[in-house]
Amino acid sequence: MSGFDAKWLRLREPVDVLARDPVLVDNFARFVTGQSLPATVLDIGCGTGSTYRSLSGRLPEGTVWRLLDYDPALLAAAEKLLGSDGIGFFRHDLNQPAGMPLEGVSIVTASAFFDLGSAAFCDRLLGVLAEHRIGLYAALNYDGRVEWHRPHPLDARVVADFNRHQRTDKGLGPALGPTATDHLKGVLEGLGYDVVVAPSVWRISAQEADLHIAFLRGMVDPVLEVGALQPEEIGEWLAFRLAYVRGDRGGCEVGHHDLLALPRD
Ligand SMILES: C[S@@+](CC[C@H](N)C(=O)[O-])C[C@H]1O[C@@H](n2cnc3c(N)ncnc32)[C@H](O)[C@@H]1O
Repeated sequence: MSGFDAKWLRLREPVDVLARDPVLVDNFARFVTGQSLPATVLDIGCGTGSTYRSLSGRLPEGTVWRLLDYDPALLAAAEKLLGSDGIGFFRHDLNQPAGMPLEGVSIVTASAFFDLGSAAFCDRLLGVLAEHRIGLYAALNYDGRVEWHRPHPLDARVVADFNRHQRTDKGLGPALGPTATDHLKGVLEGLGYDVVVAPSVWRISAQEADLHIAFLRGMVDPVLEVGALQPEEIGEWLAFRLAYVRGDRGGCEVGHHDLLALPRD
């Protein structure tokens, strides 16, 4: 089990959809449309299928999708939500990139995934994609920026500790966390890809209060684990934040970046 529960993924999906950079989505769709049809897209770390729901409507009819995750519960939820018409589901641990179902794949997609990976993990995976000259659309990588509209004196320390925790091992080696996009860009350029990066910021207001609350609560354990702030300080900060999520100036922005890498040849 990955520990990513379907409820969290459902809460973030509408905000992810709005955050995705539209130019990169257009360029992704143009690339797939330009392949000999039907093209095949592989979504890795698919969760319940959010990437498919966001992008499949932009692609030619008949495009084949493969959805891959190592969490059987999330894969089962994806299959239940999407059905299996034109979609294959693959249970696979990406720590073993060698076994990925890459045959005939034009481009790999991933959302909210690469910031979980270590440099070594990403390099290995990108190396395999480069061998096959497969493109990559890696969206919604957390970039370390969280800004609330109503400031609290502990915000900067909470975010710094949260970001420190984002660099710990999430099952794929010590995670790149907020440095993921820069790392991917550098490696992919070295492997002969044209790479474009664009911000994909979550803009959370009172309408997205449930996501905001889940996000705030999800920060507490990582920050406690880092241990630089006292539990009472974190408790006081959380109470302040929760008191305003549905009110005036209670929202926040959470920074992410999208990346599209297309093989030069
Ligand atoms: C933050 S979730 C994103 C899910 C989905 N892409 C979305 O945007 O809703 C990260 C996903 O990566 C998957 N994952 C994490 N480590 C993995 C691994 N070693 N092999 C395959 N999938 C993995 C998790 O199970 C989870 O579905």
